[in-house]
Amino acid sequence: MRKQFAICMTCCLISLVSFGCTNHAEPTNPKVTSPESIVVQTNQQSSNTEVPASKQLQIVAQPDNISVLVNKFNKLPETFNPKDLVFPNIPFLASASTEKRQLRKEAAVQLEKMVKDAKKDHIFLKGVSGYRSYQTQQALFNNYVKRDGYNKARTYSAIPGTSEHETGLSIDMTGKDGTCAAEDCFGKKPEAKWLAEHAQEFGFIIRYPKGKEAITGYKYEPWHIRYVGVAIAKEITQKKITLEEYYEAISIKK
Ligand code: DAL
Ligand code: ZN
Repeated sequence: MRKQFAICMTCCLISLVSFGCTNHAEPTNPKVTSPESIVVQTNQQSSNTEVPASKQLQIVAQPDNISVLVNKFNKLPETFNPKDLVFPNIPFLASASTEKRQLRKEAAVQLEKMVKDAKKDHIFLKGVSGYRSYQTQQALFNNYVKRDGYNKARTYSAIPGTSEHETGLSIDMTGKDGTCAAEDCFGKKPEAKWLAEHAQEFGFIIRYPKGKEAITGYKYEPWHIRYVGVAIAKEITQKKITLEEYYEAISIKK
């Protein structure tokens, strides 16, 4: 009898704690997000992924949120698939697969505007790689590990589940002739300079800036743009910060 009571009390405690955590984590305004509101649980279950056990990986609570933080420590839920993927009407490199020519609707509309506006400045942008499924990211990452080894691959490629490309909010861009696509030399191209200056006007940021490698966890990628919405993109670009620093600032202000 005493044993049954003890078991029952333990169960009640566990339910109370879990329920409390989940409720606390849901923000009232889905547009306003901070790491605390996005991240709800430590991901002990995912210890079988390639992420070192010493790092505390968390699962994002609102993977559909436009300003969601996805990085080496904030992983998308395993079942996540963006619901509103569309094909932005912009030119892509011929080698881009059908899957990679997609982006989420809001990002796609803004990307179309950006590519159109860039033309006025004689900048002809092309898409290289937009949305990638978990499986596609896995295949990519595994290939890089085979080529360069795990540690090096981690400096430029995300473990599946932690790539922004899986959100449908990021896209790698290049110029008309496709030279230097997703390569360091793209940084010297006029297209890279244009993106660094003007992407913010359309709600995009250069997600992995030069000099911020220790914060983002990735080397400089002048080609990888991430849609976060115009207000956040302008703030991040003008303050020369990263999405990580943006959320840190919000949590300090609270
Ligand atoms: N290259 C970026 C980090 C990715 O793989 O998502
Ligand atoms: Zn990218």
